[in-house]
Amino acid sequence: MIIGEPAPPPGGPTRDRGGPAQPLLSVKGLIKHFGQKKGFLTKAGPVVRAVDGVDFDVAKGETLGIVGESGCGKSTTARLVMQIINPDAGEILFDGEAVGSQALGLNAFRRQVQMVFQDSYASLNPRLTVEDTIAFGPRVHGATRRAAATRAHDLLHRVGLEPARFAGRYPHELSGGQRQRVNIARALALDPRLLILDEAVSALDKSVEAQVLNLLLDLKDEFGLTYMFISHDLNVVRFMSNRVMVMYLGKVAEFGPSEALFETPRHPYTGALLASMPSMDPDARTEVAPLAGDPPNPINPPPGCRFNPRCAKSAALCAHQEPTLLAAGEGDHRAACWLVDPSSGHPRLAA
Ligand SMILES: Nc1ncnc2c1ncn2[C@@H]1O[C@H](COP(=O)(O)OP(=O)(O)OP(=O)(O)O)[C@@H](O)[C@H]1O
Ligand SMILES: [Mg+2]
Repeated sequence: MIIGEPAPPPGGPTRDRGGPAQPLLSVKGLIKHFGQKKGFLTKAGPVVRAVDGVDFDVAKGETLGIVGESGCGKSTTARLVMQIINPDAGEILFDGEAVGSQALGLNAFRRQVQMVFQDSYASLNPRLTVEDTIAFGPRVHGATRRAAATRAHDLLHRVGLEPARFAGRYPHELSGGQRQRVNIARALALDPRLLILDEAVSALDKSVEAQVLNLLLDLKDEFGLTYMFISHDLNVVRFMSNRVMVMYLGKVAEFGPSEALFETPRHPYTGALLASMPSMDPDARTEVAPLAGDPPNPINPPPGCRFNPRCAKSAALCAHQEPTLLAAGEGDHRAACWLVDPSSGHPRLAA
C-alpha cells in the first residue's frame, strides 16, 4: 500500500461483493416511532411515527435524493441507516449482507458508511486541528501517526484545501464552506462506500454551495462512492440525483428516476412540492403556496392516504383506504396514490 492512498478495503480488493447489479443498500419495512412507553407511574405519551414502513434501495454508484417537508422523516431514515438509532422494525442490507450479522459486523459497516451534516461547526471538535480531525479515524483504526497525517494531507488536497495552509488550522479559523470541506475529507478518511449527506450544503451561500456540490460530484467519481443526498432544495436534488425518494409523514409517497419524477410527478404531493419551488422566471412565480392545509403531524397521521386532507385531488376513498406504492411509469417509477391504480375507482380516473 502506498502511504496516502486509500486503505485497502476490508475483506480484500473485491469489496464489491455482490456485483454491480446488487444494490449497495437495501432497506425493508423500516419503522421508528418515538414516544414515551407506558411505565410504572407514567402514562404512555404521544407516539411520533417518524418513519412508518419505508422500503427503498440505493444502487451502487448512484445518488439517491431524499426530499419532503420538514418533519417527514428524512433525517430519522438517515440515522437509522447509519445505526445511530435502532429501528423498531425493519431490515437493512449492505451489499447483500444484513447489517450487524456475522458476515457484516457493526464496526465493518460503520467504516463503510459515513455521514455529513448541515452544521459544519458543531460536527467538528473545536480543539482539534484540521489535520488531527481528518487523521482521527485512521489513527483509531491503527494507522501510524505518520501514515494518518499523510492521509489527512492527501485528503485536504483532494477536497480543495491546500494542506500547507490548512492542516494546522482550527475550525473557528475556517469559513463555513472550508469547514464543510474538512467534514467531507474526514468522512472519506476510512475509504467509505456510502456517504449520507443530510442537508450538507444547505447552510452555505449559493456560490459556495455550488462549489461544494461540484466537489461532491468529482469525489464521487474519483472514489467510486454512492450518495444518499437529503435536501429541502429541489433544484439541488435534481442536479445531484439519479433517483429521488419523496417522503411524506414517515412514508414514501413517490420514488423514481430523477428526470421522470421532476418532469411527470405522479403523486399530488410531489406535484405540490414542485409547484412551490421558487421559479427562476419572475413571470412564473406564484403568490399562493400550493401546499396549503394543516401542516403534517406525525403524531396523528390521518387515516387513509396521509396526504388526503391537503390534496386537491382527494376523493372519498382516499380518506379511508391507504394506497401502497404502485408502478407509475417508466423504470421503477412508483407512487402511493390511488390515481396511479386504474382499478382503484378514484372518480378522477373515470373522466
Ligand atoms: N429523538 C426524537 N425524539 C422524538 N421525536 C423525534 C426524535 N427525532 C425526530 N423526531 C420527530 O420525528 C419526526 C421526523 O423527524 P426528522 O428529523 O426525521 O424529519 P426531517 O424530514 O429530517 O425534517 P427536517 O427537514 O426538518 O430536517 C419529527 O416529527 C421529529 O420531531
Ligand atoms: Mg432533517
